[in-house]
Amino acid sequence: MSVPVLPKTLKTILITGAGGFVGDRLTTYLLDHYPDVKLIVCDIKAPAERPRVTSIGADLTDPKQAEALFTHGRIDGVFALHGIMSGGSEANFDFGYKVNIDSHRHLLEATRQHGAKYPNDPKILYVLTSSLAVYGGPLALPESHVNPDATPVTPESSYGIAKAIMEMFVFDYTRKGFIDGRSVRLPTVSVRAGAPSSAASSFISGLIREPLQGQESVCPITNDPKDPIIDSMRIWVGSPKAVVRNIVYTITVPAEKYPKHHRSINIPGITITTREILNALEKYGGPEAMKLVKYTFEPQTYAICRTWAGSYDNTLAFSLGYENPDEKNGFDGAVADFKEELLAAKKA
Ligand SMILES: NC(=O)c1ccc[n+]([C@@H]2O[C@H](COP(=O)([O-])OP(=O)(O)OC[C@H]3O[C@@H](n4cnc5c(N)ncnc54)[C@H](O)[C@@H]3O)[C@@H](O)[C@H]2O)c1
Repeated sequence: MSVPVLPKTLKTILITGAGGFVGDRLTTYLLDHYPDVKLIVCDIKAPAERPRVTSIGADLTDPKQAEALFTHGRIDGVFALHGIMSGGSEANFDFGYKVNIDSHRHLLEATRQHGAKYPNDPKILYVLTSSLAVYGGPLALPESHVNPDATPVTPESSYGIAKAIMEMFVFDYTRKGFIDGRSVRLPTVSVRAGAPSSAASSFISGLIREPLQGQESVCPITNDPKDPIIDSMRIWVGSPKAVVRNIVYTITVPAEKYPKHHRSINIPGITITTREILNALEKYGGPEAMKLVKYTFEPQTYAICRTWAGSYDNTLAFSLGYENPDEKNGFDGAVADFKEELLAAKKA
């Protein structure tokens, strides 16, 4: 996997949601690969202090706290990652909108005002992490292959609606020349370390993460381990390493390479099934780990799973230079990485 070359003008980068799973890894990637870049990282609770990092605790639903992020000198790039995931947004409609729409508008506006103070500098590069939850309807089922040129954006969850709305804002702020924005629709990032998220997709990582640590995990798509859905339901995922690399790559793509009429890119992933997840669990955890999987059908989770397409056309992403190391390594590669991390954490 190649390391993206950052524009020379990108000296200070702001990451919101930096205390979250992807945000923390993005912070580490940027620190590891770009020794001259300074970071400002923010989350509700200030992320851990690190060298070259200004760490801030801020609730971005408050516009004043969003503005305050821009009082530490010129910021050249923003990765807007903070948010409430799909299950959480569905369970709490008002809160989901407040964070996934209102706070992102505050951040965009604060970025615009900051950029206006530096009219002679390049436009602030702005990357929103969106989601494939922007798709829904009959063309986005586990059986579907989504071609973005032929599939309308018709989200079927509050999370997906909020992401679609914010993609439009990012495009319009870009069109108006306020920022140089890009939205990337991530595949489900798996294997996710740490605590389970409020995403409906949480079980995809949970089937590996918990049993490899001696804990039970629920397979929510069926009550029956012999149900054919375990082999047939297609799921689109990306490994943390590949997704983080491609999020960083997004900020390096020259503006003129994007289509004129939108700035939303489906970044690469791979198709797997629950069977492949279970096979990887058996390979890396053995029969003991397999016994920790409980099959308990959860209708609400299953209903959300039915709104995810099983594969996506990445022609545009590849034409822009995105890479897909997961094609070679498969889901096994992500599980091997996760197991290595567990062993390293035990030794530390
Ligand atoms: N992880 C995935 O599989 C996946 C898939 C598609 C899209 N995404 C998107 O990628 C981004 C990162 O995902 P993640 O898995 O790291 O999520 P996460 O839940 O681990 O992290 C999100 C962070 O946002 C912070 N946050 C929430 N409300 C906030 C507020 N009001 N002010 C400041 N910070 C706030 C949370 O405290 C949390 O640390 C999100 O935008 C998510 O929608 C993730």
